Amino acid sequence: MIITRKVEFSASHVCRIPRLSEEENRRIYGASANPNGHGHNYVVEVSLEGEPDAVTGMVFDLKELKDLLNREVVAPYDHRFLNYEAPPFDQVVPTTENIAREIWRRLEPHLRGATRRLHSIRLYETPDLFVDYFGDEQSSGEAPGSGEAARSNEAKCSA
Ligand code: NI
Repeated sequence: MIITRKVEFSASHVCRIPRLSEEENRRIYGASANPNGHGHNYVVEVSLEGEPDAVTGMVFDLKELKDLLNREVVAPYDHRFLNYEAPPFDQVVPTTENIAREIWRRLEPHLRGATRRLHSIRLYETPDLFVDYFGDEQSSGEAPGSGEAARSNEAKCSA
């Protein structure tokens, strides 16, 4: 069974790779490279997979999940300029992809259990654009911003 809880946060970001020129950043990220940044109303859907507890009937305590999302996602990101206020986005380009991966990294250790696990993070940057992240076995132990993650930074930044 999969249960999903949704939270929202509003944040600013700018998509730039500091070592690249202005022209190259504009080519890759378009208007998203504007150094003054721009905002999004992000929506995060956190899905857990597991079996309901025989006694409580719940996959995970929903109050605990709400508190966890407030602590690990809303508090650090809401009304922040991600590049300046929310590490690792001072080092890692805060694309939708990278933000989803970081939310997974923050939440996953708290959601491991004998009867349930984190299934996916869906992050909407706009109503028309979202990413799904299911964890990444191959890069476990690899910090965001290194290796594949760094190369994927150059993929896109939508809006
Ligand atoms: Ni954007």
